[in-house]
Amino acid sequence: KRVAILISGRGSNMSALIEAARAPDYPAEIVGVLSNRAAAPGLAIAAADGIATASLAQSKFPSRDMFEDVMTQILESWNVDIVCLAGFMRILGDDFVNRWAGRMINIHPSLLPLYKGLHTHERALADGAKVHGCTVHFVTPGLDEGAPILQAEVPVLPGDTPETLATRILVEEHRIYPQALRLLASGAI
Ligand code: GRF
Repeated sequence: KRVAILISGRGSNMSALIEAARAPDYPAEIVGVLSNRAAAPGLAIAAADGIATASLAQSKFPSRDMFEDVMTQILESWNVDIVCLAGFMRILGDDFVNRWAGRMINIHPSLLPLYKGLHTHERALADGAKVHGCTVHFVTPGLDEGAPILQAEVPVLPGDTPETLATRILVEEHRIYPQALRLLASGAI
């Protein structure tokens, strides 16, 4: 299956997917990386790996629909079967989401349905949560509401800050995102 990754920043989950897809038996190939920020460090990493890249600022378009129409054109030009959101910090409109129904997945840094949206680590710590984690889920029009595919739990430790917790969870993100993409691309789900 041909996969595009949508990013906005660092791209460490993107890198984990690119690395996994190098295995000869991996059922997906990363064919393009699209960012809504030209300065996203992940773009340069993908380009250095010989992957097609594009960047597209929503602010340059008169409407979100027009921005997403151009994203769709780019994804179609890459013949994409599956879209992976990896730190893509824009909410996508219903038309775009529905076009990719069952073929678009996201990584979210919480044990969904807990802590949808932003600042998940701060909120988990403020609640005194004993466990926290991450979820790969299908993307549906409701923010962070699609069916979960894989989750990983980590303990919350005494003295944790949002940063230490995020670092512990990121290790698990990099482990489960490639596994979840494998399940989708192989047809297992
Ligand atoms: C990750 O924590 C991911 O769960 C969240 O945004 C962050 C992206 O990090 N959606 P990176 O760009 O993959 O390094």
